[in-house]
Amino acid sequence: MAEVKNTTKTFTLNTGAKIPAIGLGTWQSKPNEVKEAVEAALRHGYRHIDTAFAYGNEKEVGDGIKASGVPREEIFLTTKLDNPWHKRVPEGIERSLTALQTDYVDLYLMHWPSSTDPDDLKKHYPDWDFIDTWRELQKLVGTGKVKAIGVSNFAIKNLEKLLNAESTKIVPAVNQIELHPCNPSPKLLEYLKAKDIHASAYSPLGSTDSPLSKNEALLSVAKAKGKSPQQVLLMWGLQRGYSVLPKSVTESRIQANFDLDGWSLTDDEVKSLDGIQERFKVCGDAWLPVKVFFGDDE
Ligand SMILES: NC(=O)c1ccc[n+]([C@@H]2O[C@H](COP(=O)([O-])OP(=O)(O)OC[C@H]3O[C@@H](n4cnc5c(N)ncnc54)[C@H](OP(=O)(O)O)[C@@H]3O)[C@@H](O)[C@H]2O)c1
Repeated sequence: MAEVKNTTKTFTLNTGAKIPAIGLGTWQSKPNEVKEAVEAALRHGYRHIDTAFAYGNEKEVGDGIKASGVPREEIFLTTKLDNPWHKRVPEGIERSLTALQTDYVDLYLMHWPSSTDPDDLKKHYPDWDFIDTWRELQKLVGTGKVKAIGVSNFAIKNLEKLLNAESTKIVPAVNQIELHPCNPSPKLLEYLKAKDIHASAYSPLGSTDSPLSKNEALLSVAKAKGKSPQQVLLMWGLQRGYSVLPKSVTESRIQANFDLDGWSLTDDEVKSLDGIQERFKVCGDAWLPVKVFFGDDE
């Protein structure tokens, strides 16, 4: 059997571009620590970095990219349009590019399907929704500022609305969503596959402090395998066919989370993680002015 090489593995987007299977997440990576994290990740071989305007760290992510010495064109860089910027797409991308100190991003995502009024973050615009925002995002393609556009936190119902809208000419390249054994979203994944939209997994470790790593089923697979629970979680995601975005600001963990070559989970090990019944979502929609999730297994 050919050796498993996840660190250089890519998935092909519907644009023809390739997205590396493992990316460094940067949510909650503080400005004073993310530069070192990005630099360490790139030096260790990561070629995919995920950030967002809302994370308040794009400048330091850009600093980390520069400090690494890795040529910009070798890196797949994602950032996201923040909810209160839906009516200001051209300005939103400019601000991100300036902070990131780059001419383009490889992927620009609508962070949430929520067009929030910047004057009152509890309000959704009455005269603007994510379909309007997508119409504006589409105008960026061809400007050279974005190589691809996509969405994040879109459930099937919202994707249906988007894809059926008259103004929608471009199918999102990616839907970045929460994916881990306690939020496996099989229906949404099936839907994305049918529409040729790549799924990227956020919070693959269960987010802050990696709480999933205490799960008994996971621990027993990790022990049998001689791998950490985090490595097993990432491998489970990769074997389900999507890219994974583990976040860490700890160099040893950044390295360990990339130690995913030369081994894989057996069908039984995958099934054991598939069988986890506990359900939780780290990033729900309670803080948003609109509901964005539908159904318990999306
Ligand atoms: N589109 C969206 O709405 C959205 C939402 C959430 C996340 N995301 C993206 O997805 C990325 C990942 O999600 P996430 O940040 O929620 O969480 P995550 O990657 O599931 O987990 C991160 C947590 O696990 C810890 N950790 C990382 N590697 C570890 C290891 N090997 N051993 C033990 N602990 C480890 C990290 O600690 P240290 O950093 O202290 O090492 C941090 O506390 C984000 O950073 C962001 O880029 C996107």
